[in-house]
Amino acid sequence: MSVLQAKNLCKSFKNSSFTQEVLKGIDFEIEQGDFILITGASGSGKTTLLNCLSGLDTITSGEVLINGQNLATITSKEMSNLRKNHIGFVFQAYNLLPNLTLYENVEIASIIASKFNKDKILELLTKFNLIDFKNHFPEQVSGGMQQRCAIVRALINDPDIIFADEPTGNLDSKSSVEVMETFQKLHSEFNKTIVMVTHSLDNLKYGNRHIQIVDGKVIKDERLNNA
Ligand SMILES: Nc1ncnc2c1ncn2[C@@H]1O[C@H](COP(=O)(O)OP(=O)(O)O)[C@@H](O)[C@H]1O
Ligand SMILES: [Mg+2]
Repeated sequence: MSVLQAKNLCKSFKNSSFTQEVLKGIDFEIEQGDFILITGASGSGKTTLLNCLSGLDTITSGEVLINGQNLATITSKEMSNLRKNHIGFVFQAYNLLPNLTLYENVEIASIIASKFNKDKILELLTKFNLIDFKNHFPEQVSGGMQQRCAIVRALINDPDIIFADEPTGNLDSKSSVEVMETFQKLHSEFNKTIVMVTHSLDNLKYGNRHIQIVDGKVIKDERLNNA
């Protein structure tokens, strides 16, 4: 089943003197269980694409449908339901709250999503090897651990699709491997659909589909033969 469709997606940014066309007619469908890696040079429009696909930004023309719902026409209540129940986000800079412990960072996300369940939080922290650090604050643990905590936070509302924008961009190579293996686990064990922007071609070995963007257009959309 197709969980996300982009149809002739265009996005421009306007300022007082000129319009910059960033996305120039993007078409693809994402199937349930895809682990898609989007690559492209800096400035090619990857973050803009992810923001448009996930409803964080509005599009200029074309359509984006998530679970068959057109993001341009759904009500704000439906959009908030999508965010709470169907979509998770992981960002390059982790975006954890510095004054909350790792446990509390996940807890607050679960409360906001009206899905607080202490046992589930502890189970996920255990599964992602964070349980011994649950009472630590973000600055007391490594970048890799912070990102794994951000992944647990994204997982806590049991989303269908997880969007990740360069989640290994700030990490050393060992932590990058740990974080990519965590995403692999989300894909294979938790059956999540993952749409990830990455700067690193090394990360292609973790996904099952590769989309390359050049200058706001898809120039490659290929299946990857990873287990
Ligand atoms: N909010 C914005 N306002 C104006 N221009 C933007 C905005 N966001 C992105 N851009 C421009 O869009 C282009 C693509 O940016 P981005 O999607 O961040 O690329 P990437 O993630 O591939 O590095 C860049 O030229 C950037 O300056
Ligand atoms: Mg970017």
